[in-house]
Amino acid sequence: MNRFDGVKVLLTGAASGIGRATAQRLATEGAAVYAVDVSEQGLAETAAAIEGTVTTRLADVTDEPAVIATVAAAAEALGGIDVLVNVAGVHKTTPIETLTVDDLNRLFSVNLVGTALFCREALKHLPDRTGVIVNTASLAATQGNPFMTAYAASKGAVLAFSLSLAAELAGRRIRVVPISPGAVDTPLTRAPDMFPDGLDLGYFSKIRSYYGAARPEQIASAIAFAASPDGAYFTGADLRVDGGAHT
Ligand SMILES: NC(=O)c1ccc[n+]([C@@H]2O[C@H](COP(=O)([O-])OP(=O)(O)OC[C@H]3O[C@@H](n4cnc5c(N)ncnc54)[C@H](O)[C@@H]3O)[C@@H](O)[C@H]2O)c1
Repeated sequence: MNRFDGVKVLLTGAASGIGRATAQRLATEGAAVYAVDVSEQGLAETAAAIEGTVTTRLADVTDEPAVIATVAAAAEALGGIDVLVNVAGVHKTTPIETLTVDDLNRLFSVNLVGTALFCREALKHLPDRTGVIVNTASLAATQGNPFMTAYAASKGAVLAFSLSLAAELAGRRIRVVPISPGAVDTPLTRAPDMFPDGLDLGYFSKIRSYYGAARPEQIASAIAFAASPDGAYFTGADLRVDGGAHT
């Protein structure tokens, strides 16, 4: 039996990496997926890769009017929203000496503000007792990662936001699960500016998983667990999926 038969899912960051793998996984398990991203081409590729039910919408998660319209359109198209999965995110590697206010604003806008806006709007539709929110934090939130101060801080904010939201929504029995992947092999980590030349990255060899980087599908399966009835007692706790890299 499919865990997501009849389940209506709103998903951000669906055009690439973990988000695309999550769209595929949830649709394969029966979900109707409303897939949001800023990348039109990426969304088209995601839709083409899915056999199940998927609707795509171009939206920037930092644009408040666009988020309000997108969530309303998703609820209309799907006939409600059962699950919100926030995956959209951006990364920046830079030493503190060259960190700019623009970097900080962009990281916090996409990673934290985008997540918070989608939660606020989706909560107008998520049903009490069965509604679920999964927010993508990062192992960087709780593990010191050199040259990633601003990214780590933005993900720490996503984690803190999610834990508090879980407590706030416990009375409605709406679960909120922050998920913290370690390194995942996606376009984000393959980008040439992920590990710029000249930085001493030796520390990363100490915190690398013996299992290597995760495949996006391995994070998608954890998101599917968190969002499904299998995760019914899982809320307000960081779900680390890091191949033991934190030990
Ligand atoms: N890859 C990793 O090692 C890793 C580890 C921990 C956490 N994460 C987090 O997982 C999430 C997905 O990462 P990924 O590796 O799949 O990256 P990715 O770059 O492959 O995908 C990120 C997606 O977010 C979308 N996006 C970016 N800004 C947006 C905006 N303003 N509005 C709407 N969509 C936007 C991009 O277009 C892209 O499709 C991110 O939040 C990332 O921080 C990734």
